[in-house]
Amino acid sequence: MKKIVFLCSGRGSNFRAVVEHIRARKFDVEIAGLISDKTDAGALELAKSFGVPTFTIPFEKYRQEKEKFHLEMEKLLVELAPHLIVTAGYMRILPTAIINRFVNRMINIHPSLLPSFKGLKAIEQAIDYGVRYTGCTTHFVEEGMDSGAIILQSIVEILPNSTVSDLTAKIHAEEHKILPLSVEYFLTDRIEVSGRKVIIRE
Ligand code: GAR
Repeated sequence: MKKIVFLCSGRGSNFRAVVEHIRARKFDVEIAGLISDKTDAGALELAKSFGVPTFTIPFEKYRQEKEKFHLEMEKLLVELAPHLIVTAGYMRILPTAIINRFVNRMINIHPSLLPSFKGLKAIEQAIDYGVRYTGCTTHFVEEGMDSGAIILQSIVEILPNSTVSDLTAKIHAEEHKILPLSVEYFLTDRIEVSGRKVIIRE
């Protein structure tokens, strides 16, 4: 049976969407844990309500020792031994050692049409830039922030009166479709990665 682990810093709505999809479709996968870098992440409560084991490595505690924080994270991930890691609103850059252990086995969701608007406040960046369309992207994690081969994207139109909050809601709704689907493609062995290209087999 495949194992999946989530990394979350926030409220966990994408985590919820993936877990609900996995359970509705009865995929043969063990949800082995949700790890958060924040003690107050809403995702932790959500995971508990789903009966998913939770782990917290509070970044605050390691503020002066970033390396130790990353070593703890790596140790935990090695122990949990997931086939797939999903970074669902995990707001830290992962170190090379972790990225190298999980090449093409770590999926991230980002609230823009990559490669535009990488990094923090991607929705605000898109509005400020004046683009007509933005959206969200799932991709494999590699070195370099929000880079890595793209799995799925979904488009959201920015209207003249769009606010950050209504655009966030529209993007979230699309994220909740493409992240579960990307995880499904992975779990059903339909993904092939060739350089920067992701091929999804029928
Ligand atoms: C999502 O919109 C996700 O795309 C974004 O954080 C949000 C988490 O929401 N991630 C990033 O910005 C990563 N660069 P959630 O906690 O409700 O799933």
